[in-house]
This record gives sequence, C-alpha cells and structure tokens, in this order.
Amino acid sequence: MTDETTGRATSIDVGMLDDLAGDPPARRDLLRALRGVTGAPGQDRFSASAPSILTLAEADPARHVLVVRHDGDVAGLGVLHPGGANDRMLALLDGARPQDVVLFRGFLVDHRHQGVGVGTAVAAALPGLVAALARRTGREAFALVVLVVDAENAAGLRAYTRAGFAARGTYVDEDGHTQTVMALAAS
Ligand SMILES: CC(C)(COP(=O)(O)OP(=O)(O)OC[C@H]1O[C@@H](n2cnc3c(N)ncnc32)[C@H](O)[C@@H]1OP(=O)(O)O)[C@@H](O)C(=O)NCCC(=O)NCCS
Repeated sequence: MTDETTGRATSIDVGMLDDLAGDPPARRDLLRALRGVTGAPGQDRFSASAPSILTLAEADPARHVLVVRHDGDVAGLGVLHPGGANDRMLALLDGARPQDVVLFRGFLVDHRHQGVGVGTAVAAALPGLVAALARRTGREAFALVVLVVDAENAAGLRAYTRAGFAARGTYVDEDGHTQTVMALAAS
C-alpha cells in the first residue's frame, strides 16, 4: 500500500485507545506496548517520554490517546486534547474560542519507525480524527487542530508542513527555546 501523503510504500493506521474502553485486558496490553515507544537519542528535548505522556492522559479524561501502527506494529502515540490550547497559543489563532480548538500533543514516533513517513501521515490524518472525536463525544465540529513544535525540530516542522499545517507565530518558552505554533482547519 502506498501512503497518499508521503508517496511511500507502507501501511500506517491511527486508532484511539478509547476504542478499548470495554476491554480492560486488551487496553492494558496496548498501554504496555505504548509505554515502550521511544524516540531517538537527543529527541527528549522535543517531547516527553511515552510513560509520562500516558500518565498525564490517564489522569485527564479530556486527553484522548491516539495509537499509531506501522505495518501492524505499535509505532507511536499522540494525544488529542480538546480545550488544551493555552492563552499563548490562542492569542495566535485569530480569536478562536478555546472550546473550538483541539491541541495535538505528546506526539512520539518510535525511533525504529521514524523517517518512513509515519509522522507525516499521522499529521495529515488529524482533521479526520478530530472530526471523529467530535462525533463520538456528541458535540459540534471543532474548528482547528493546533500544535507546538520546537523551532529546531526539523523533522517535526517538515512533517507538519507537508501535512498542511501552517505556522501561526512563535514564542520563547521557559527554557529559552523558540516554539512555533502551527494550526490546520479541523473540518
Ligand atoms: C517528529 C516526528 C514525530 C516525525 O516523525 P517521522 O515518522 O520520523 O516523520 P516522517 O518520516 O514523516 O518525516 C518527516 C520529514 O522530516 C524529515 N526528517 C526526518 N528526520 C529528520 C532530521 N533529523 N532532520 C531533518 N529532517 C528530518 C524526513 O525526511 C521527512 O521529510 P521528507 O518527507 O521531505 O523526506 C519524529 O521524529 C519524533 O517522534 N520525534 C521525537 C519527538 C518529537 O519531536 N515529537 C514532536 C513534537 S512537536
């Protein structure tokens, strides 16, 4: 199968951990596999570890974990967080209401699956995933997906740009790193 966005021959699937809410043993096994997702050396400055991302998500019902599979293997995770965009992000989104924005956070592709188009394909799938999240939670459609990427994260910037995300502005974080806020229409 050829991925439409990247043109590369591969099979990339994104599901939701929520789908296993009624099957606790299967959910537990999948969580264990997701905790094993690890980035490449040096990438910990761009994202938290998988266990940290999952601990925060398990404690917050507003965070919905995405499960990324590549050729059948668990290859990454991410989190859809409606209402998660903070004031600094919202200030760059032309007056978008917080409840209409979904923050995409905690995105990590396992180092064994990087560089073959997984990140780009997941980013391109986000509007559809966000639309599905609105339907399953019985609310009106969201307007925007937003994310924050370190200005030195070349792979992230490239993946998001290829998927259609546009830079809306930058800010300097508490560690002195420039962060780029990017957004894509969710519907
Ligand atoms: C960022 C990340 C999700 C991208 O995932 P990925 O599956 O490797 O992405 P892709 O394979 O779709 O590659 C995206 C683009 O970046 C390029 N790229 C990959 N690694 C690169 C690097 N170190 N420097 C520059 N470009 C790079 C790829 O060549 C590709 O560009 P192309 O399509 O023009 O060839 C992944 O690297 C990752 O998990 N990094 C650690 C955590 C992180 O940064 N998360 C995102 C926080 S916002």
